[in-house]
Amino acid sequence: MSLVQRFYDANAEHEWTRLTFEREPHHTLEFRVGMHIMGKYLPPPPARVLDVGSGPGRYAIALAEQGYQVTLFDLSGEELALARRMAQEAGVAGRIEGYEQGSAADLSRFAGGQFDCVLVMGPLYHVITEDARLAVVRESLRVLRRGGVVVAAIINHLGVARDGLTKFPEQYSQPEILGLASSYTLHVQVEQETPFTEAYFAHPLELRRWYEEAGAETIGMAAQEGIAGGLRERCRRLAADPAAWPYSNYLEWIGERSGTLVDHQFVRDHFRHAADYRQFVYDYLVGSSAPPAGIEAYLLEDGASS
Ligand SMILES: C[S@@+](CC[C@H](N)C(=O)[O-])C[C@H]1O[C@@H](n2cnc3c(N)ncnc32)[C@H](O)[C@@H]1O
Repeated sequence: MSLVQRFYDANAEHEWTRLTFEREPHHTLEFRVGMHIMGKYLPPPPARVLDVGSGPGRYAIALAEQGYQVTLFDLSGEELALARRMAQEAGVAGRIEGYEQGSAADLSRFAGGQFDCVLVMGPLYHVITEDARLAVVRESLRVLRRGGVVVAAIINHLGVARDGLTKFPEQYSQPEILGLASSYTLHVQVEQETPFTEAYFAHPLELRRWYEEAGAETIGMAAQEGIAGGLRERCRRLAADPAAWPYSNYLEWIGERSGTLVDHQFVRDHFRHAADYRQFVYDYLVGSSAPPAGIEAYLLEDGASS
């Protein structure tokens, strides 16, 4: 049994409560933005959804409640067993087409082109090698009908660095933790007892490259917490105010806003000068100091920094 499977078998209940307001209010932002993105891009119910890495079925059950026909797929038998109970409790068992256990890199039990939507919100940050991640990507596209929609998630390495610095700053004196903060692409392998398991943290544009190189077209990029990861108060406030969600997510924000950044305080909290913020955006988006075309309109004005 893999480390990841053991971790989720042992933490199924925690995974169910993770996205609830009562338990971890800051994670409500993750769930609400996730549902918002699906509402925006998924074809309408009763479309057929394959939820790969469904965990205990938070999204699957919410989609079934909206009338989608959902198949859950996960490495962890315990997560699937919990999902089955929760779907019954929610009264949507009739809209669940199956609970399948297996690896996302091999969806061969499903014929090609049969799903209208595929969610891949788990496996891509738990599969360590690039070859295996590309197999997950290829499989998710193979089972999708032409014109269907994949919603895939990674864990943003900058969010992880931010989260770690917030929660356990003292550990940042250790070389392996410093590696988390300084590298765009990295993986960490930790023991089961620690808060997380084997994982790969990525740059958002990697996700885009994997899918585009496999033949998909990108129709939207969004962050559920983005660089707000670890800023619990900020995430709580953002969750309560959908109009402010773009501030957790400068990728989508850069794509969609048509003015200068209005939440100056957000930038002041993280960057001492507007120039630092500008450099960060350049570096992060294009990996160089050359500004991407049109980006000026979205940057903080110099005069607004403190
Ligand atoms: C953090 S949970 C995410 C659950 C849910 N999709 C969400 O976004 O809230 C990650 C899930 O992905 C599953 N998973 C990880 N690697 C996988 C793989 N290679 N194949 C199938 N499932 C996998 C885990 O068992 C776990 O249930």
